[in-house]
Amino acid sequence: MKTLIFFNNRLLYETKKRNYRVSSLSSQDQLKAMVAQKAVELIKPQTWVGVGTGSTVNFFIDALAQSGLDILGTVSSSEASTQRLKHLGVQVFSSEEVPVLDVYVDGADEIDPKGYMIKGGGAALTREKIVAAQSKSFICIVDQSKWVETLGHFPLPVEIIPMAATRLIERFRDLGGQAQVRLKDGRPLITDNQQHILDVRGLSIKDPLGFESMVSQWPGVITVGVFAHQKASVCLLGSSDGVKTITF
Ligand code: A5P
Repeated sequence: MKTLIFFNNRLLYETKKRNYRVSSLSSQDQLKAMVAQKAVELIKPQTWVGVGTGSTVNFFIDALAQSGLDILGTVSSSEASTQRLKHLGVQVFSSEEVPVLDVYVDGADEIDPKGYMIKGGGAALTREKIVAAQSKSFICIVDQSKWVETLGHFPLPVEIIPMAATRLIERFRDLGGQAQVRLKDGRPLITDNQQHILDVRGLSIKDPLGFESMVSQWPGVITVGVFAHQKASVCLLGSSDGVKTITF
């Protein structure tokens, strides 16, 4: 795992001999690392931190561990994030052990000007929504490619009970969407909760609050990847001009 640091606004990484070289990360990864670092700077000591899932959050986990910040502990939204946190020596508690989290930090697949998001590209949407719901605030960390005017260009992830797949695919078809079971190695992907994911293309979600409420009630839906009721409080948006802080 590379240790990344910022110096004079440049992203550096530590070599084996403890020299620092300018990072060879792609420009998109540099934006992810920048917003992750900014999120760590917003976290106060002696607080509980919810940790999301995905490539942007991985930078956040690395930066959090490296900061040595004296937090009370974390609650994680996936097996993958839990493993990474523990590997770097950050304490992880279960959701039931911590009634309220001070802040939740996570990426998104899309975020709109009201702070509504699509999430679940990494299949962790159910636990992400649970941890977001137990947090006082939600810091969304994204690079500029995730900013959209209307949600729906990114295929909407929906975690479902497998036996409901056919009927749910029909329901999405009635809304103009094309839903498919997400595959991994030619078989349905199994989530951390032992369920399946539908990815729905072709939707334009003009009323995210209403859409989330409606789909959440369909039999067989565990979690829809629209995060409108658990929207972001703050978005840290990484662009070539630096990190913009957008408050909702
Ligand atoms: C994980 O299930 C997702 O909700 C992620 O937060 C989202 O897919 C963003 O991931 P990246 O940071 O890898 O783009």
